[in-house]
Amino acid sequence: MMRVDAKDMGADLKEVLITKEEIDAKLVELAAKIDAEYAGKDLLIVGVLKGAVMVMADLARALSTPVTMDWMAVSSYGAGTQSSGVVRILKDLDTDIKGRHVLIVEDIIDSGLTLSWLLSNLGSREPESLKVCTLLRKPDAAKVAIDVEWVGFDIPNEFVVGYGLDYAEKYRNLPFVGTLAPHVYGG
Ligand code: XMP
Ligand code: MG
Repeated sequence: MMRVDAKDMGADLKEVLITKEEIDAKLVELAAKIDAEYAGKDLLIVGVLKGAVMVMADLARALSTPVTMDWMAVSSYGAGTQSSGVVRILKDLDTDIKGRHVLIVEDIIDSGLTLSWLLSNLGSREPESLKVCTLLRKPDAAKVAIDVEWVGFDIPNEFVVGYGLDYAEKYRNLPFVGTLAPHVYGG
């Protein structure tokens, strides 16, 4: 099968940070822990569009727990690489989460602003439980007091793309997580 790989990004890519194999193995590991937590429970996983599409798809298939899936789209970034701190709902859940066990699935936590806003927004809808699983977490997330139950990888403070993550909507379909060359984003 033909695959996009690092070479196809040419000069845009600085390096591959996390390979497809490492992501796959990590999701199996996380799925086992999530299965243990929600055994016998009815679980709704909520993916945050668009970045979490790949994590949702692969994590959901690694889980043994039957789940239902819903999606939310929020915007905190505009087109650049800096968090604005202003979160807008672009698409709300289709599901009433009152009394449900809800797991938010994120691609990346950077400043933590998006997630802390999401936790208070969804928390106010009175779910039975509300937890978070993220594939990636950057160091700044430590500055915000938020509980993240399951973290795939703690990564350095660099802009990353691939596996759902974009720069100006590009690179989401790369099967790995890579760092961009500074010339791409003017760094
Ligand atoms: P905050 O700062 O609110 O950011 O925790 C969360 C959202 O910001 C986006 N984000 C990134 N997207 N590469 C990306 O492609 C990155 O390195 C990056 N850092 C933050 C992402 O949409 C995430 O949900
Ligand atoms: Mg983005």
